[in-house]
Amino acid sequence: MKIAMLGSGFIARFYATSLHAQRRTDKIVSVYSRNIDNAERFAQEYALPHFTDQMEEAIQNPEVEVVIISLPNDQHEPAVMACARAKKHVICTKPLGRTAAEAKRMLDAVEKAGIFGGYLEDLCYTPKFLKSLESINNGDIGRVLWAKSRETHPGPHSDWFWDIEKSGGGAMIDLGCHCVEISRNFIGKNVRPLEVMCWADTQVHPIDAEDHAIGLVKYANGAIGQFEVSWAFRGGMDLRDEVMGTEGTIWINSFLRTGFEMFTSGKGGGYVAEKAEVDKGWLFPVGDEAHELGYPNMFTDMFTSIEEKKDPLETFYDGYIVNAILDAAYKSAKTKLWEPVVLEVWRGDDTDIYDKGIKSYDKDHYLIKEELLPNGDTKLILKHKVTGKVTQTTNTPREK
Ligand SMILES: NC(=O)c1ccc[n+]([C@@H]2O[C@H](COP(=O)([O-])OP(=O)(O)OC[C@H]3O[C@@H](n4cnc5c(N)ncnc54)[C@H](O)[C@@H]3O)[C@@H](O)[C@H]2O)c1
Repeated sequence: MKIAMLGSGFIARFYATSLHAQRRTDKIVSVYSRNIDNAERFAQEYALPHFTDQMEEAIQNPEVEVVIISLPNDQHEPAVMACARAKKHVICTKPLGRTAAEAKRMLDAVEKAGIFGGYLEDLCYTPKFLKSLESINNGDIGRVLWAKSRETHPGPHSDWFWDIEKSGGGAMIDLGCHCVEISRNFIGKNVRPLEVMCWADTQVHPIDAEDHAIGLVKYANGAIGQFEVSWAFRGGMDLRDEVMGTEGTIWINSFLRTGFEMFTSGKGGGYVAEKAEVDKGWLFPVGDEAHELGYPNMFTDMFTSIEEKKDPLETFYDGYIVNAILDAAYKSAKTKLWEPVVLEVWRGDDTDIYDKGIKSYDKDHYLIKEELLPNGDTKLILKHKVTGKVTQTTNTPREK
């Protein structure tokens, strides 16, 4: 693929480093930045043949097959519209929009233009996430009941994030978009998100948006998605997921504890890992940050999907659903009520009747619980199918 990069900041660099790493064949051929000096510097660092301070020029460059949007949140929509006009495939960083209305306009534009719209939700491509999802789809942990995802760090690195007009919100829109989509994948993307209950507050910073939030997303099959986000967390970037199923459990720690621990007196110093607050003492570096964060798998899926004319794992439609869930979360934080997830488009299941998989013990009873006790007895707790009465029986092992 020949790529135009829009933006030359933090995420543009992460993406470019992943794309141009090792012997990858997909290459950025043009970069746009508002500031021509930044565009030139980026082009030099990644050995790009073209740079510009005109967005349309990068998009319309005849060499360019796909455009990556790495601009602040308020710039996603105009950039997507420019790609639609130029009929260039587009992949956009998260969150897709500041609101569901904005995301829906972007979804409509790419579908009307007949171009590819990929949603760059990298945390749904990490090696640990993909392996977990495979296990869940394989039935290893049974029916998912609760999926919690947490992203917290000490706050973002550029002014526009902290400006509610440009970003669309605080920690919730910035980090909650990852958490919502992670849980949604684990619970099942075909399952309709129904309503959201959320607490959000500005606990530390002098800003209009929230710097800390916790939310619950109720799904039509009875499962609960939970997100925990903060821009006030101290100690680095904490990315953790927990999934509870009827047959098992998954715990993932994607960043702060990856099994790599290092002590240094601070003699060397410098960059340790994204949002790490210290560079001496006991440190928790990340072996290959881009890979741990899912970027190479994500781009492989995006470009293969363009070539094979199929949907990637994460589409503009998914970005729209995430925005709709977050819209409900923002509303709930204000009203302090469960707020419905309003979806103008829903392409998943419409049922809210799901098999709970209740186990029969015999023709008259359901099995509630079976447990082996320390004395060797097995206790069975049963519920009568007709009367509803709960009883227990104890099976004592016989001496041989
Ligand atoms: N894990 C992830 O997927 C991840 C991580 C970080 C950021 N992001 C997303 O990437 C996007 C950019 O964030 P960032 O961290 O790179 O920010 P950044 O501030 O580091 O970089 C933003 C870039 O956009 C340019 N820019 C700023 N305002 C502009 C405007 N009005 N018009 C045109 N260009 C403008 C800046 O000059 C810079 O090149 C955001 O949507 C953010 O949510 C995603």
